[in-house]
Amino acid sequence: MARHNKTILITMSRTPIIAANWKMNIGPAEAKEFLAAFKNEITCECKAVDKVIVPPFITIPAVMEVLNGCTCVGVGAQDVSDRDNGAFTGEISTTMLNELGCKYVVLGHSERRQYHGETNAYINKKIKKALAAGIIPIYCIGETLEQREGGQLETVLKSQVVEGLEGLTAEEVAGLVIAYEPVWAIGTGKTASAADAQDAHAFIRGVIAATFGQDAADKVRLQYGGSVKPGNAAELMSQPDIDGALVGGAALKADSFAAIIKAAV
Ligand code: 13P
Repeated sequence: MARHNKTILITMSRTPIIAANWKMNIGPAEAKEFLAAFKNEITCECKAVDKVIVPPFITIPAVMEVLNGCTCVGVGAQDVSDRDNGAFTGEISTTMLNELGCKYVVLGHSERRQYHGETNAYINKKIKKALAAGIIPIYCIGETLEQREGGQLETVLKSQVVEGLEGLTAEEVAGLVIAYEPVWAIGTGKTASAADAQDAHAFIRGVIAATFGQDAADKVRLQYGGSVKPGNAAELMSQPDIDGALVGGAALKADSFAAIIKAAV
């Protein structure tokens, strides 16, 4: 894979973004305990890194209540409907996320692709819906072990980028967050090596440059996700095309999530 041109990066400034994907963990009461501990670890002055918490829907109001308007931590949802409103049992709309003050929404996570059959085309509709509502998508992509070992890494990543972002403008793509999460590294304790992760990120940025132009590619923020922890975060984050992390298990405890944030500064 071609390495990204480092001379471009010297002139770029992409603010790192570290997000906690709590998945189906942490209800409202536990979230309040988490945030009490987390606030002690992270000060509002720490502006060098965008920090995001992505709780289950039902926990979002409790998180907002504790943050009490503090904008030093952004809040996201784990999914959103591609519809406006109406008879769609179990769904949550962008209007509802806006009412709660959600700034981000995670879309296309591999667990939603795997357990809920979400396709690139369907996720594309949700991305467009989020953008129309002013919510920043954190678009997740990544290959399975079978695909990687079968030599399909680049084909899979390319189709996820091109099909998932189909119809977006270069400006919209520039404002996105894309999380590269190799499925084999999620929750397994197996992290991609920093070099492998960098190669995949550089490839993704290259696909964006080819599809949406160099400016969008230079501005879009790419996160790595998959068994990120305090011990490996700094090395991953020091790679030129890795602009942050989407963290699962290690973001369930305030001290370890805070340690990962500090590694990105
Ligand atoms: P883990 O950090 O638990 O591997 O989860 C990664 C992930 O899926 C974040 O969205």
